Amino acid sequence: MSIKKISKTQPELFEFTENNFQKVQDEIKKYPEGKKASAVLALLYLAQNQNDNWIPLKAIDYVAKLLEIPYIKVYEVVTFYSMFNLSPVGKYFVQVCTTTPCMIRGSKKITEICKKYISQNQNELSDNKLCSWTEVECLGACVSAPMMQINQDYFEDLNEEKTKEIVQKILKNEFPETGSFKNRKSNAPEKEKTTLLDLKNA
Ligand code: FES
Repeated sequence: MSIKKISKTQPELFEFTENNFQKVQDEIKKYPEGKKASAVLALLYLAQNQNDNWIPLKAIDYVAKLLEIPYIKVYEVVTFYSMFNLSPVGKYFVQVCTTTPCMIRGSKKITEICKKYISQNQNELSDNKLCSWTEVECLGACVSAPMMQINQDYFEDLNEEKTKEIVQKILKNEFPETGSFKNRKSNAPEKEKTTLLDLKNA
């Protein structure tokens, strides 16, 4: 289960840079008059990118004021989506899927490896401050479960040995090879096709 942890250390101020402020205006212009609240996801995404991949409480307040909506409306969005972090994450941010298909295929072993090598608890930095990990819900790659995401990349068809290798690499500040570790292409079946046999190019 994904747990949102709010950082105890918070900056006193958050404001968009000039460049991001221009992007904010462009995002707001995409929506009709009086509907600028619809830009909330885009603005939060900009805020997170500007602040080392996590959103401080001041940024929630700032975005709410820019969009002229209540603070709680922005807070609800931030706490709902796992893509938003409320505390600092590592340069290598590991998200382990623990939803049913991944759970059945061994995601617990993956989280155990994260606990052992990265940090005992989710959303905490490793001793060398390079990595952090968290559990998330389905990342849409169930066919190649169990899987995890590191930053923008997927690592699929994992086993204990492969996961350990990946985690040890990121702890050494090296980015591991991505994709399926059974060399599966896209969502292809593991061996031969077992369904839709009568269709060409299915
Ligand atoms: S259940 Fe893990 S990717 Fe869907």
